[in-house]
Amino acid sequence: MKQILVSGGFGFIGSHLVERLLAEGHQVHVVDNLVSNPIPYSDLIAELPNTHLLTCDIADIEWYGSHTHLFPYQEFDEIYHLASPVGPAGILPHAGKITRQVIEGAYAVMNLAYRRGAKLVFVSTSEIYGGGIDGLCSESMSRVIQADVTVRLEYAAAKLAAEISLINTCRVRDQYAVIIRPFNVAGPRQSGKGGFVLPRFIQQAMAGEPLTVFGNGTQVRAFTHVRDIVDGLLLAMEKGRNCEAYNLGNPANKLRILDLANQVLDVIQPGGTTVFMDGKSIYGPLYAEANDKYPDASKAITELGWKPQIGVKATIEDVHQYMTRDERVME
Ligand SMILES: NC(=O)c1ccc[n+]([C@@H]2O[C@H](COP(=O)([O-])OP(=O)(O)OC[C@H]3O[C@@H](n4cnc5c(N)ncnc54)[C@H](O)[C@@H]3O)[C@@H](O)[C@H]2O)c1
Repeated sequence: MKQILVSGGFGFIGSHLVERLLAEGHQVHVVDNLVSNPIPYSDLIAELPNTHLLTCDIADIEWYGSHTHLFPYQEFDEIYHLASPVGPAGILPHAGKITRQVIEGAYAVMNLAYRRGAKLVFVSTSEIYGGGIDGLCSESMSRVIQADVTVRLEYAAAKLAAEISLINTCRVRDQYAVIIRPFNVAGPRQSGKGGFVLPRFIQQAMAGEPLTVFGNGTQVRAFTHVRDIVDGLLLAMEKGRNCEAYNLGNPANKLRILDLANQVLDVIQPGGTTVFMDGKSIYGPLYAEANDKYPDASKAITELGWKPQIGVKATIEDVHQYMTRDERVME
């Protein structure tokens, strides 16, 4: 049994990761400030039993860790760092503060992992590519900082700066860390509140409403089921090379947002309609669409042995089934 810390472990991806780690028999410690947990805290406690929860900002982890009975100088074998503002709409209230939150969180986790001798998996984002080359994003490509300053750019630039400081830190001291860049994660428990498109489409289809497609719907994405992402996180911890970054995104799921809308309609509301609109009309003037992006996942596939398996239709069906029996994410 390993002692494992998951920051942001009560979030969408984190809760699936914690579930897997618990099922594998590990002792799991979660640090989460509960700012964007997708389902209520009391339900998470019930669904993730035997998890040690420390409710605080990740930047304050060392202070809280040593001043509360919940976290008495715990040794960790592994740390997964997921705590961060996230989502095209979820990041907007943090405009101007994302840089500090992401960087302070990253330094706190880096130093915690170093002091406790733990392996670290740092969850970054595919946004750092700024769209790659015509949407294709590979680890070997340059990262592009765009001219247009948006909240989305602040999120991407902060994650990229955190990645770079982590790599350089691991090069100059005896520390082991691996970086993961997920692409459009989807699955049960994801809330529409962060502005994620799949929960919104499914909610609208279930209500018999037209699906709101932003722009002209030609944006390219590759949705990846959260269970495949969790597989990748575990493999990265086990087999990832120190200071290396790995894309986790399912290239087989590459599609346009309009195709996603049509697939949702096929599954839930055959004959239903779509309506085109500007995302700013829903989320306000700070909202910005991501560039086209889809992964070159060959590095994770060959080096980690990652095998993303769940297709778009199965992901839609899985989320639909979850939302049908669970109204907590329907707010
Ligand atoms: N969901 C995606 O499609 C996606 C894509 C790429 C990268 N990511 C990354 O994956 C990670 C998890 O994303 P998610 O979709 O599960 O988001 P989420 O909002 O569901 O989960 C994040 C969790 O972290 C907590 N949190 C946020 N800031 C914190 C802080 N400063 N201190 C302590 N806890 C904090 C929140 O309360 C929440 O429970 C994030 O780092 C995000 O950048 C997500």
